[in-house]
Amino acid sequence: MFKAVLFDLDGVITDTANYHFLAWEKLAKQIGITIDRTFNEQLKGVSREESLRRILKHGGLEKTFTTDEFAQMAADKNKNYVEMIQAVSPQDVYPGILSLLKALRRHDIKIALASASKNGPFLLEKMALTQYFDAIADPAKVAESKPAPDIFLAAAAGVNVAIQETIGIEDAAAGIAAIKAAHALPIGVGNADILGADIAIVGNTRELTLDFLTEVWENDNN
Ligand code: G6P
Ligand code: MG
Repeated sequence: MFKAVLFDLDGVITDTANYHFLAWEKLAKQIGITIDRTFNEQLKGVSREESLRRILKHGGLEKTFTTDEFAQMAADKNKNYVEMIQAVSPQDVYPGILSLLKALRRHDIKIALASASKNGPFLLEKMALTQYFDAIADPAKVAESKPAPDIFLAAAAGVNVAIQETIGIEDAAAGIAAIKAAHALPIGVGNADILGADIAIVGNTRELTLDFLTEVWENDNN
């Protein structure tokens, strides 16, 4: 049986993936770049700085800005994003997530956050979920961001569980790649076209029950 579940946040626990998109869309527009939701799939799970690099490249402007201007744009996006998430509340937690967290606790299965977002702890507070998490991996302290395995390894280490005994839950292609690279067992939230047909996927977080996780685990390990 698995001993810990490592959660991504944006797009898994709540709909903040949408706010990230809206904040990037606004920033991009200011510098004359148009991004759409298809392109946005390449930003999901990716760090703030790498997201901005990808947007600039997408618009052919990767060599246009100084280091200071780059930092300012990243800060502007974050300011915008932070404004958007002020109103996040417990009502914004995706369906099924709270009951899964409670079930995991009842069964003594550890819970860790493996989000690339520096706003993760703030959002858990806003959603009144902090108490359920045994560890929050700090994205500022890992060497490489998703698709590298680092943040998932840090999350497993934070709860003292071997990575092979964990399940990772993700909505981003970069996140699924990170879980695979870490050798945790991935479960995707979204669809197989984006996340791959070789992993367990739910279309809705409502399906993320302890029974479902157990079934995925047993199918993989027998
Ligand atoms: C998550 C999101 C990304 C975001 C990254 C950094 O991985 O999926 O869209 O860019 O976190 O978030 P931050 O809040 O630190 O800018
Ligand atoms: Mg995500």
